[in-house]
Amino acid sequence: MNETPLGVKGIDHVELYAGNALQASHYYRTAYGFSQAAYAGPETGVRGQASYLLEQAKVRVVITGSLVPDSPISDFVKKHGDGVRDIVFATDDAEETYAEAIRRGALGIETPTVVQDDSGKVIRARINAYGDVVHTFLQRDGYEGCFLPGFQPAEIPAEPTGLLRIDHMVANVEDRKMETWVEYYRNIFGFSQFMSFDDKDISTEFTALRSKVMSSPDGGIKLPINEPAEGLRRSQIQEYLDFNHGPGIQHIAFLTGDIVETIAALRARGVQFLEVPETYYEALPDRVGEIEENIDVLKEHRILVDRDDNGYLLQLFTKPVEDRPTLFYEIIQRKGAQGFGKGNFKALFESIEREQERRGNL
Ligand code: FE2
Repeated sequence: MNETPLGVKGIDHVELYAGNALQASHYYRTAYGFSQAAYAGPETGVRGQASYLLEQAKVRVVITGSLVPDSPISDFVKKHGDGVRDIVFATDDAEETYAEAIRRGALGIETPTVVQDDSGKVIRARINAYGDVVHTFLQRDGYEGCFLPGFQPAEIPAEPTGLLRIDHMVANVEDRKMETWVEYYRNIFGFSQFMSFDDKDISTEFTALRSKVMSSPDGGIKLPINEPAEGLRRSQIQEYLDFNHGPGIQHIAFLTGDIVETIAALRARGVQFLEVPETYYEALPDRVGEIEENIDVLKEHRILVDRDDNGYLLQLFTKPVEDRPTLFYEIIQRKGAQGFGKGNFKALFESIEREQERRGNL
């Protein structure tokens, strides 16, 4: 495995802040099929906040809410609504990772700190990312508890929907800030640019964006970064920035091994997806060529397809999962393709614009 200069090994978990973590975690269990594995809160000796660990295959998500009006969690939720606060990276040496990140120009949020309970200790350090998003470096250090110090097992099983792992996580940043964050992940994390799209690739008559994908050396961490581009009307990236009050995570893509089953299961549980026009499927055979799936089945489930030099991929995007038009999810199945569905951007944008128009924000 190609080591990064920071010794970052992969994504340990993602933490969301929510206005009501109890209810949000219920939504992710019932709608997305995550099982609850652990809980941290007053009952486990953690004051002022409550956290729920949700798991499905290799995906781990923590949902955290505040019990008090004045806290960083409350401040985050007041400004941004529910959303991704922390992308937590695993490392074998949090002190070394943190020191190197700072040496390379990262802004420190929390110096390496030992956190412990009866089951052992972990070492944690934090740096800034865009907006109020942070990156934690987590050294588990042989910790033997159920997740992290302060957590206790609190199992609520759920029927999974086939989500296997996080494929990529996309950030929306302000106009002309994409390059800044590309350089950030290049210079500090040692990631390299995987691919880029400009506004000619990703535009419709009205809206546009530019995007570059940063990847860890082994490809295990992929972080596309979007910025709005000039269009006739307000870009959907700008709409996100306006409602999120700054940059943040726009979507998390979950990998599945069987997208038809996953989408059917999610729809049956009430997850709402972007509407794909019927006409999309008329042009599909010519656009993507031979694929294993029956196009009528894909059409029935409104699944999108795209092809690149290495193969093809199937994907679909949920509607935003908050009151604000901010965070949403993507379901993706890869059949060789390494891209992100560039050819679907137009179709995606047209669907998003129909939604945007209904909100009166186009
Ligand atoms: Fe994506």
